[in-house]
Amino acid sequence: MSRQNKIAVIGLGYVGLPLARLFATKYPVIGFDINQKRIAEINNGVDSTQEISEDLLKSVQVSENPFATPNNLGLYCSSNHEDIRDANVYIVTVPTPIDKHNRPDLTPLYRSSETVGNVLKKNDIVIYESTVYPGVTEEECVPVLEKVSGLKFNIDFFVGYSPERINPGDKEHTVDKILKVTSGSTLEVGKIVDDLYKSVIVAGTHLAPTIKVAEASKVIENSQRDLNIAFMNELAKIFSLMDIDTHDVLEAAGTKWNFLKFKPGLVGGHCIGVDPFYLAQKAQEIGYYSELILAARRLNDSMGAFVASQVVKLMIKSDIKIRGAKILNLGITFKENCPDIRNSKAIDVITNLQDYGAEIITYDPWANSKDVFDEYGITCYSNTIDNEFKKAFDTKFDAIIHTVSHHEFLTLDLSKYLKEHGIVYDVKGVLSRDSVSKRL
Ligand SMILES: NC(=O)c1ccc[n+]([C@@H]2O[C@H](COP(=O)([O-])OP(=O)(O)OC[C@H]3O[C@@H](n4cnc5c(N)ncnc54)[C@H](O)[C@@H]3O)[C@@H](O)[C@H]2O)c1
Repeated sequence: MSRQNKIAVIGLGYVGLPLARLFATKYPVIGFDINQKRIAEINNGVDSTQEISEDLLKSVQVSENPFATPNNLGLYCSSNHEDIRDANVYIVTVPTPIDKHNRPDLTPLYRSSETVGNVLKKNDIVIYESTVYPGVTEEECVPVLEKVSGLKFNIDFFVGYSPERINPGDKEHTVDKILKVTSGSTLEVGKIVDDLYKSVIVAGTHLAPTIKVAEASKVIENSQRDLNIAFMNELAKIFSLMDIDTHDVLEAAGTKWNFLKFKPGLVGGHCIGVDPFYLAQKAQEIGYYSELILAARRLNDSMGAFVASQVVKLMIKSDIKIRGAKILNLGITFKENCPDIRNSKAIDVITNLQDYGAEIITYDPWANSKDVFDEYGITCYSNTIDNEFKKAFDTKFDAIIHTVSHHEFLTLDLSKYLKEHGIVYDVKGVLSRDSVSKRL
């Protein structure tokens, strides 16, 4: 099949926009998203996820649909379905969340497959990048594409799966520098998909033998990380009972060449804290009840309450009255140096401490205060020049919790904000030892 690629990227979030930008350096690309606000900001050269700088984004943006002119390239973003009609490669990068019962919610995948199905033509290729359990592409998405388009899978149109491995906030391992796993619904299509990614990913590609293998490879990457962190969290719980500093233990054990370097912590976000449920749910559906995967999830999900109980114990030991105590919580995003607040476990620390009767003041220079309020119903000060925040900061605190290690926090002199017998709890274990009372 000789083809001139015209690419439509469906879903322009943390994954889709950097990918669309990258492909637009070599191909005509339409970025499509149902969120018109997102399209408007991108068209103004702004990426609120802070993954792409204004200069980089503007360097590939074109003002009209690049499919219209032959041999054109560049990125044009739109929420108009008509604009993606002439693409021949559709890359789907929509969210794959879980519902309130921790079950996979494939609604965005179904909806976006309908969108693509409506414009699908003979010989088009649809590549899914969203993280899923093995089987979703061929058993869940393909039937939607067939039904809506009236075309036949692997005769009229083809699919591929290439999981994304980016790490939000990481400016070193950007999409082009991470080796990409690729796959296709036939041998020939696998090769086309692989060549397409190889043309822009400088780190290279790995062509998996089947789509299911590629799907499984991604979901186990995140499950493996979840399990390793869960082991660290279990150690943190055991060593706290023994009054041993877990980080000291890990530093000593880490001197062995084959000791894996993980740390205890809160596991939030919409990847590591979510994807293992995709695998466990599918396993259960086919008759296997995951033991390790679900145990790791339970353990990691319990850490917010554990941190809160540790802080309360320390405060009681320092003769601080818990009811009405003022606690400064540093950080609400799910990870450091990233504005993403979705599925943040910092909120578990906050609500647990509120249950003890303490007053929590949250400061996060990376988070959007309105988004935090809309999502969690709490006030988050995000701007140091904000008067309200200054007022809050003028009162000294009974306790400070370093929950997320944004680079701004690493140089804060916490003693300036602490009452005489106040305590500092370092969830991340990165602050200087003499400035903290205890580390997780
Ligand atoms: N963020 C990460 O670090 C990361 C890393 C690797 C893989 N992933 C996976 O990639 C996928 C996307 O994640 P993300 O973080 O980019 O999500 P995101 O929420 O940042 O972005 C998704 C975008 O898709 C849009 N969208 C939703 N439904 C749509 C539809 N029907 N049609 C068109 N657009 C639609 C949303 O408006 C949003 O802009 C998920 O499966 C995720 O698990 C994410």
